[in-house]
Amino acid sequence: MDFDPDTYEKTSFDAILPAKKLIESIKAKNETNNKYTIVLDVGCGPGNTAKMLAEELQPEQVIGVDIDPEMVSFARTNNSMENNKYYTQDVSRHWDDWDVELKRLAGKVSVIFSNYALHWVQNSETTANNFAKLLSSNGIVVFDFLNVGDIYRLISPELRTEYEQWLRYPTEQEIIGRWITDLKNVGLTNIEMKYWEPISIYPIKVYDEFINIPIKWFKQYLNDQKVPKNVSVDDILKELILKERGRIMAEKCPKGDDLIEIRQHLWEFVVKK
Ligand SMILES: C[S@@+](CC[C@H](N)C(=O)[O-])C[C@H]1O[C@@H](n2cnc3c(N)ncnc32)[C@H](O)[C@@H]1O
Repeated sequence: MDFDPDTYEKTSFDAILPAKKLIESIKAKNETNNKYTIVLDVGCGPGNTAKMLAEELQPEQVIGVDIDPEMVSFARTNNSMENNKYYTQDVSRHWDDWDVELKRLAGKVSVIFSNYALHWVQNSETTANNFAKLLSSNGIVVFDFLNVGDIYRLISPELRTEYEQWLRYPTEQEIIGRWITDLKNVGLTNIEMKYWEPISIYPIKVYDEFINIPIKWFKQYLNDQKVPKNVSVDDILKELILKERGRIMAEKCPKGDDLIEIRQHLWEFVVKK
């Protein structure tokens, strides 16, 4: 991956390439060049991907949903478009609790898209059910999500047993297997999957901020009652995550900062109705 040292202050988690790949997959599956009706961007964040979807697919409407009202407000201010709306919505909530306006989209959405968001969702069963409700006949669901892998892979079995008492992150097989089962159970059986490892390069100080995100999502699986008193969970996780998938690079930034290369673990799903 190219790294531009002049812009490194602005470097952040680069999710654009995976989003582009998802859009390519959508286009590749549209063999008969059908016009896209409603496109739903799940976990739309600041609205950048909703904008890409509007430009690339030219659908009748692009709807973005995100669990975080601040993100939705940012998207409305910065990435509003014609025939577009953003809503605050947790996609893993039971369908009955969804925003009434969104429920009106049932059976009408031709593309459900989600980039770098569904690793936050533990309830894949309800989420898959919601996708099935929203999707039109011949609709397509494309999403990718990160898997942090087995952070205990490179430590001793004794230490693994100790850590697993207070933090048991599901294995890759459990996470992927659950999605496959849940999609199949709602009739979405035409599933293609791809795994790849995008590489991100960060100056150490940017990485120090970024690492808080995977730490937060690991901590969803924390058994608080079992954490030993003198243990800093954040420090241990930071070290383990870095050890499992990071590499301090020999090159440095012109300003002297060390650089870290992070190998992401990304699963991509393409699901045709
Ligand atoms: C890393 S951002 C990705 C944003 C955007 N998709 C992109 O590619 O730039 C992940 C987003 O997923 C949202 N998210 C997490 N859990 C969610 C849920 N259960 N329902 C809807 N959005 C969710 C977060 O609030 C966040 O904005």
